[in-house]
Amino acid sequence: MQELVIKGPGKINGTIEISGSKNASLPILISTVLSKGSCVIGNVPNLRDTKFLISILSNLGCKVNFKNNVVAIHNSTISKKVADYDYVRQMRASIVLLGPIIARYPSFKIALPGGCAIGTRSIDLHLDALKKMGVQIKILNGYVVASRKIKRLNAINHRFSKISVGATQNIIMAATLANGISILKNCAIEPEVMDLISFLMKCGSKITVNQRTIKIIGSENLNLSNHEIIPDRIEAGSYILAAMATKGKITIKNFLIEHLEEPIKIFKKMGLKIKKIDTNEYLFSCNAIKPINLIQTKEYPGFPTDLQAQLITIFLKNGNKSKIKENIFENRFIHVPELKRFGADITLNSNTVIVNKVKELNGAEVMATDLRGSFSLIIAALLSKGETTISRIYHLDRGYEDFDLKLKQCGVNIKRKK
Ligand code: UD1
Repeated sequence: MQELVIKGPGKINGTIEISGSKNASLPILISTVLSKGSCVIGNVPNLRDTKFLISILSNLGCKVNFKNNVVAIHNSTISKKVADYDYVRQMRASIVLLGPIIARYPSFKIALPGGCAIGTRSIDLHLDALKKMGVQIKILNGYVVASRKIKRLNAINHRFSKISVGATQNIIMAATLANGISILKNCAIEPEVMDLISFLMKCGSKITVNQRTIKIIGSENLNLSNHEIIPDRIEAGSYILAAMATKGKITIKNFLIEHLEEPIKIFKKMGLKIKKIDTNEYLFSCNAIKPINLIQTKEYPGFPTDLQAQLITIFLKNGNKSKIKENIFENRFIHVPELKRFGADITLNSNTVIVNKVKELNGAEVMATDLRGSFSLIIAALLSKGETTISRIYHLDRGYEDFDLKLKQCGVNIKRKK
């Protein structure tokens, strides 16, 4: 298994080009199963997760090619109507296949995603809405066995009991082929959901968004269209936080700053300086951190849970009793014990971490445990004296394209060891 060796202390100083969004690429590639035809999707990051999804789609019978960040898709019929446990276990986002496939075909079977490192992540919101659309669902031998007797799914007027990115995406896709007009309330409105909608509209779907209410006019079929994926706001946020924590200076290219409007407001209060250089290109720098008492994660446009772990690192050497509250996932703090191995002073109280600054952090042997938490270990290594070894870095390869190369270009002493 590959490891990462980082020699600290280090600063982030340089230029980083942001890749396409992982979380927008996955549902958009999945949504191509809604229709026969061909399309080309550009700016797809070359990651474990995107490559894995492509293997799932190929296994179902789609013809997919992935080269130079471009995915070419030629879909006719989905020949296999089962998504096996081995696939779903490795990538929970594959549950989003259920909505579009059951909208197009009368039956589909998909393994129930199991538990995962950051919480239970149930799929009740997905299943409740699909049942309302006329899908019969049985849970059998660890699989969701879905079927419908009606010719097309029913359009629904539905309010999600909780905001969910995946459930919103799943049901929007199903509704594009439903019979009638669906109104979905209390939807997730993350930029990644909006990018999916923009792709579906290019394919001929009629969709309108009014705050958290999304209206979809169902149609009998769609025509696949070409699309460019939006830049990855979480990747950008991770590098900005790395620059802030190390008091560095970073130029970020290909970044839609409006996708991180709320977090950037908070970062500015903490001392982040921003200079616009060109279209979608900014210089970020930070000389001193002004600690903030409490930051809470929230659905978009609030502070993203996917930046919570990286945010904690800002307070490892700044401020006392800094509180970060996690409101989206019940158990998203597996990075905390790893951060303590560097000498950090962190206590966990229910869903809130309290961080007290320490004078010195020291390199350690740590283990990557989940995608975003793993990036916080890189930042902690940069704040530490001496050598840090991070094992199980396949987590980072799931979501940060060429992260070791990008960090090296910013002056970080980092090596990938086989
Ligand atoms: C997506 C993102 C992930 C991000 C998360 C929240 C992708 C591939 N992943 O995950 O990076 O951290 O949004 O922004 O886009 N829930 C239920 N029942 C359900 C579905 C969800 O209770 O049926 C709960 C979850 O356990 C969680 C909350 O809703 O507590 C939000 O989860 P959700 O928005 O669905 O996350 P994902 O779509 O899995």
